[in-house]
Order: sequence, then structure tokens, then C-alpha cells
Amino acid sequence: RHPRVPHPPHRIPLLGDVIGVSITKPTQNAMAYARRLGPIYERRVLGYRFTFVSGAELAAELNDEKRFRKQLGVALEALRPIGHDGLFTAHNDEPNWSTAHNVLLPGFTQSAMRGYHQTMLDTVRELTRHWDRQCDDGTWVAVTPDMNKVTLETIGRAGFGYEFGSFSSEEQHPFVAAMLRALSFAQRSTFKIPVPLLGGALTRRTAQQNRADLAYLAEVVDEVIASRRANPHERRDDLLELMLTSTDPESGRRLDEVNIRNQVITFLIAGHETSSGALSFALYYLANHPEVADRARAEIYRAWPAGAEPDPTFEQVAKLRYLRHVLDETLRLWPTAPGYMREAREDTLIGGRYPMKAGDAAFVLLPQVHRDPAWGPDADAFDPDRFLPEHAHSRPGHVYKPFGTGIRSCIGRQFALHETVLALALILHRYDLEPEPGYRLDVEELLTLKPSGFRVQLRRR
Ligand code: HEM
Repeated sequence: RHPRVPHPPHRIPLLGDVIGVSITKPTQNAMAYARRLGPIYERRVLGYRFTFVSGAELAAELNDEKRFRKQLGVALEALRPIGHDGLFTAHNDEPNWSTAHNVLLPGFTQSAMRGYHQTMLDTVRELTRHWDRQCDDGTWVAVTPDMNKVTLETIGRAGFGYEFGSFSSEEQHPFVAAMLRALSFAQRSTFKIPVPLLGGALTRRTAQQNRADLAYLAEVVDEVIASRRANPHERRDDLLELMLTSTDPESGRRLDEVNIRNQVITFLIAGHETSSGALSFALYYLANHPEVADRARAEIYRAWPAGAEPDPTFEQVAKLRYLRHVLDETLRLWPTAPGYMREAREDTLIGGRYPMKAGDAAFVLLPQVHRDPAWGPDADAFDPDRFLPEHAHSRPGHVYKPFGTGIRSCIGRQFALHETVLALALILHRYDLEPEPGYRLDVEELLTLKPSGFRVQLRRR
């Protein structure tokens, strides 16, 4: 009686819809299928069933907390060996989720953001010192790796008082290298059985490397915690201090050692990968839309006149509305966390006709939801003015969700917004960005999305 959910043509017995699966670019692959198969489709692979929702109306239903809630799904389950019961990978009913959520919330209030502002500013200034050495001399600067450095330093210093020294070396910090390998291992181990067919075979050597990487991540984090414990008189207002000293007012519980370690790893990853991608995509759009960059600069120069060294206050950054719209629009087209899973709380129908049983889940494919025709005929075009308050009526409701939805949405949203707007403001104030001729946006995927190979020449203004 109910219509069948569409699926790709050429379903193969036992294997399922394996033709056309992409292990390296799963999100863009899912987007391409969404364009062909419509607002909802399913893909069966080796007995797993994945439902992708990319239509605005259906996504708005899934975002309804009364009917649906977060589910980890195979992708986040695969991250459990890294994050365990840390906030991001915790199951809804794990007690450590609510304890950690309550303990950490004070670390994300507006007054907490005010407290991180100076650290964020100092970190961006390290970037500009680094970039000053490469400007006006024809150097092609690789943007994404440098954005990784800024955001890793920012969360390390603001969250845990720990410096990775990213700018004192050309090399990636070994923590980042180990983290990227561990993420890639997790991505490839999503399907429990080795699947050479999908290019996802895991050798014994990579498994061994993965064990070493996880041990190394834990070691770095234990060092972060130990260095704080060694200096107890240095009271700081940060996430680590909250976790080490405060009690959940609801349950009266505190976080244990192992959970604190899981949270620190979670924050170092969740707090830097996505923000770094957001900054990189924003710079890609700004470099390729000089008229947008000029408007953003006009706003920036009103706060800090050209020529002088800007000394932004927290309030001034919060007032950069146009730049904020640039970021909003960037995260509309390329939400760097490309989606999330929602499971039905009870048996239900979505769209009034597709049945979901309690516990059944669907993936909200954000980049496609954010390009639904409901956004207008130019949904694929970059236009920050969409986010002007006077255009609110032309945006579809309840579907712009780059930071997720409901109680499990991003706790670091304000942190990310402040650090990225601040960084973009200082960069635009100081440099003209010349994009590499002939570069076509290449989006790499490792759970999060980032522009790959994007380079600019910097000219000091
Ligand atoms: C959760 C996106 C920055 C920490 C999430 C979720 C999304 C998201 C979509 C929900 C995932 C789900 O439902 O499965 C982003 C984006 C960011 C960003 C696009 C940057 C532009 C940050 C930062 C931090 C952070 C800076 C930390 C300082 C977290 C944590 C969770 C989370 C801990 C799990 C929350 C919970 O389940 O209780 N983020 N995030 N994120 N994010 Fe972010």
C-alpha cells in the first residue's frame, strides 16, 4: 500500500546496491544519487540498509525532536574506538552523556566565549605572522592545512590550555597525523567485514598502525591532563577545568578519568576538523567572489580602519553581520559535517507515506537538503544575502542545520562561529586573496568535508 522507497538501478543479489558506491567520497556520491532518485532513497549494501533524505520537507520532519532522535548509525559506531562515550559518539541513554553535557554547558555560554576571545585572537595572529612571511612574493599558500593549524591550536589552547606548536613547524603535528589515520581507518572499517570490492580492505598492518595511533592519541591527552594536574594553582576558565572540578547539578555525578580522556579526544577532533573546513570553504568563496570580499571588507574597515592594526573586541566580532552571512552561506553549500542520523521514536510515516518502524533511521544529507529547490531557483549559487533577516521568508523552515538538531546538536556552535568570523575578519583586513587560476573545487571527505588542493597568493593590503 505504501510506495516503495526508490533505490539505485542494478541491485545485485546478496551484495545489494554496491555498483557506484564510493568509499573515498561517500557524501558527494550520495548527493549525486539524491539528484537522480529524489528526496528520499535507500541503498542496501551487504545487508545494511541506508536511507538518505535530501528533500526539505522530509528533513524538517526528521528534525522534529518529538518524533525522532539521534542515532549513531554505522558511521559513528565506527568512531566509537576513538571517541568511546565522549559527547559526540555517546548513545542517547548513556549516563555519561548527560553528565558531560551538564558539566560542559557552562563552557559554552556567551561569557565563556568572551573568556576564549583573547586566546582565539592570539592564535589567528600567529597565522597572520606565518602568512606575512609568504605574502607578496608569488608563493602559493595551501589554505586547508593552515586552517587546520589555526583551529587545532584554538581548541587546544582555549579548551585545555595546551599548545601543539603548529606554527613552529612546517610539518603537521603528529597528533593530527595519528588522528587523520585513525579517522580514515574508522571510515574504512564502517562495514565490519573486509570488502576488497569496495576498496576498503583493511590489512593487518593498518590495524596495527591503528592501535598505535589510538594509543598515541590517548598518550597526548593524558599529557594534557597531567600538565594541568601538575599546576593546580593555575586556575583557568576552560573545558578541562570544568571536567576536572565540577559536578553535574542534576545527578550530582562527576566525570571519571577515562571519560575525561574520551571528552578531550572528542573535543580536539570535533572542535577542529569541522571549523577548519568551514574556514577553508569560506576563503575559497571569498577568493572567488571579490564583490563579496569587498562588501565584507567594507564592514570590517568600519570597525577597524584600513592600515591600522585591528584589535578586535568580543562585541565587535559579534557585530560583523555580513561576514556571518558569508559563513552561513558557506555552511549551507558545504556543511562540513555533512549530515546526521535520525531514528524514529515510534512507528511512523514520513511524508505521510514512507513507513519507519521505531528504531529505523534515516540520514539527513545536509548539502543536498541545503540545496533543495525550496531555497529558490539559484539554490546552487553562493549568495550570502539569502541570510539577511529580510529574506527569512524565502528560506525553507527547520532545515538549515549545519550544526545538527535537537538536544544532540553541536555544543561548540558559538565557539565555532566566533573563532571563524574572527579569523576571516583579520585575514580579509590584512590580505587580498588571489585564487589559483584553473583550480576547480575538489572536496575531500574524511567524515568531514574540506576543499582539497586549494591555494591562494596573498597580497598585503
Ligand atoms: C556535534 C557540526 C564545531 C563539538 C555536532 C553535530 C554537528 C556538528 C552537525 C551533530 C552531529 C550528530 O547529530 O550526529 C559542527 C560544525 C562545526 C562544529 C559544522 C564548525 C563549523 C564544533 C566545535 C566544537 C564542537 C568548535 C567544540 C569546541 C561538538 C560536540 C558534539 C558536536 C562535542 C556532540 C554534541 C552532543 O552530542 O552532545 N557538531 N561542529 N563542534 N560538536 Fe560540532
